[in-house]
Amino acid sequence: MGRPLIAGNWKMHGTTESALKLATQLSHYRSQENAVEMIVFPPLVHLAVVSVALNESTVRLGAQNVSQYSDGAYTGEVSADMLLDQGCKYVLVGHSERRAAMGESNQLVAEKFKVAQDAGLMPILCVGESLEQRQQDKTLEVVAKQIDAVIELAGLSQVVQAVIAYEPVWAIGTGETATPQQAQQVHRAIRAQLGDAGRSTTLLYGGSVNTSNAAELFSQPDIDGGLVGGASLEAEKFLNIAQLVEA
Ligand code: PGA
Repeated sequence: MGRPLIAGNWKMHGTTESALKLATQLSHYRSQENAVEMIVFPPLVHLAVVSVALNESTVRLGAQNVSQYSDGAYTGEVSADMLLDQGCKYVLVGHSERRAAMGESNQLVAEKFKVAQDAGLMPILCVGESLEQRQQDKTLEVVAKQIDAVIELAGLSQVVQAVIAYEPVWAIGTGETATPQQAQQVHRAIRAQLGDAGRSTTLLYGGSVNTSNAAELFSQPDIDGGLVGGASLEAEKFLNIAQLVEA
């Protein structure tokens, strides 16, 4: 088992006003005995305002993306140090929407992972198969390859200290979730791939997590929490899901 986490990926939604409102509503969250860490991932332009709203809170801040470069003439990019400066502790790397829509390869994701971790951010490495890959029975192979690319560049001892989120592409934003058994099977394989050192690595499940399916998913032995998209945009729903990580 890893440390339990609940992460909210706000994607490219909202305004400064709505981000501030949501962050303020979540800011009072405190799990029993502080056992569960809550993290929100607002759009980059809303980080500053959310950071202020979470100032006195135990809720942590994360970014949805980071540049693979540390500094320099890279118009439009945001570096790991800039994210730290905004109060971020976490960063998503390799989200399937970036892999698919922005053409991020396993190699680029590995570079971003390493740059972020070296700078002092905690990467949440997102992995997952497409529907076609699942139908061809390639799920475990695809996920293992995505993780191997990062292990090759950053080293196993570094990867086990990060967080890994298994998010089947066909389950993201579709309302279709992996069954708890399907998710657990992949999580178990990831745990095995990480070996002994990965016994306490935090493994999250993501893909249409909601208040009705979260309890059963989170009760699986190798699922330590969730990465939630759509359902994290409403404070009440997200807080309810967070409670299910504790249960
Ligand atoms: P979803 O998104 O919960 O809306 O499916 C999850 C994610 O993309 O992290």
